[in-house]
Amino acid sequence: MTDEAVQRGLEDVVALESKICFIDGKGGRLIYEGYDIRDLAERSSFEEVAYLLWYGRLPTAPQLEELSGRLRSMRALPDGVRRILEELPPTTPPMDALRTAVSALGSFESTAPVAAGPTGIGGAMRLTALLPTIVSEFHRRRNGRAPLPPRPELSHAANLLYLLTGTDSSPTDIRAMDVALILHADHELNASTFAARVTASTLSDLDSAVTSAIGTLKGPLHGGANERVMELLREIGSVDRAAAVITGKLARHERIMGFGHRVYKVEDPRATILRGWSRRIGEEKGNLLWFDLLRQVEQVVHQEKGLYPNVDLYSGSIYALLGIPDDLFTPLFAMSRVVGWTAHVLEEYADLRLIRPKAQYVGPENLTYRPLGERSG
Ligand code: CMC
Repeated sequence: MTDEAVQRGLEDVVALESKICFIDGKGGRLIYEGYDIRDLAERSSFEEVAYLLWYGRLPTAPQLEELSGRLRSMRALPDGVRRILEELPPTTPPMDALRTAVSALGSFESTAPVAAGPTGIGGAMRLTALLPTIVSEFHRRRNGRAPLPPRPELSHAANLLYLLTGTDSSPTDIRAMDVALILHADHELNASTFAARVTASTLSDLDSAVTSAIGTLKGPLHGGANERVMELLREIGSVDRAAAVITGKLARHERIMGFGHRVYKVEDPRATILRGWSRRIGEEKGNLLWFDLLRQVEQVVHQEKGLYPNVDLYSGSIYALLGIPDDLFTPLFAMSRVVGWTAHVLEEYADLRLIRPKAQYVGPENLTYRPLGERSG
């Protein structure tokens, strides 16, 4: 037995060096490859951010065009994966369907990077292009509708919205989605990215790393929080009930989803940007209920617990107004974070060190082994 300090939840442990993303938890800043998220959300596109995270620099116009073209050309799902999705019961949680499909992808593609070890950015592009198609296929099938073919003339955000809603969206809705995708694309060594890097650090393949990450993102303490926020808003129902519902939950020591963060000690800068979009989309659609409820919830949670909103607080209110069902919110998170996961996996391959921490043993010692027939109780 050793007697070393245990960092529960690996809190504050610096596990590796990375050039991809910096979080200033005290200053409330998020930086991708040196660029402030506020500038990227204001001025760039998801495709530009994907290029930035994969290549470590912003693209020139021809480079961006090439990347967008490649993403557009990789959106079609292999038939074998489609058949697997058809076999899943319609009650399957969409995150489970996504995890299953991603883990099966390589088996149906002769050119897929299925071999263990380093794969190029092409593998990252392929996953990024395919995730919206997978989720859309499963979602439409479970509702008894025929799948929609992806639209190669549309941007990533526009195609994704089309696939998830089945309709053409307005330019403002598409821009809201683009911004949400930019904001979720990476977040340093969060739980799912860590899971992806742990998998990659064994020299396993990219699809396995992303499969690990999807399973990790699913949890309500991570990517599953946005769906729970909408559940809470529907439970509250009207602004005048917000204070009573929230104080009741806090008195019962329940967590309020969309608040608190391991790294940010002030407001998550992504929440600030999404709050603005929640109001804007609410105004455009003539429905400010979710926004007004969220403002009220924010006030009560801050008053009672001193907690600030995180990225998951406002995202669901935007997605709901864009016509996306609640249980697709976390898959939507995955559709963006896949860029960060794959960027981190490629970084891991480039400077590989098996990730293998230690545990403090606290179990029994020196027990005497008794044969099966001599044991009781
Ligand atoms: N509601 C109520 N109390 C909370 C919350 C919350 N959302 N978050 C933290 N606290 C309390 C917690 O109960 C604890 O209080 P006490 O010291 O009295 O026991 C204190 O704040 C510290 O919490 P912690 O769990 O030790 O902090 P952590 O760093 O482990 O937790 C967290 C971070 C995100 C898991 C947590 O804040 C949480 O559960 N939030 C709700 C879920 C959520 O919104 N998750 C999305 C996170 S951001 C996006 C992502 O990464 O996917």
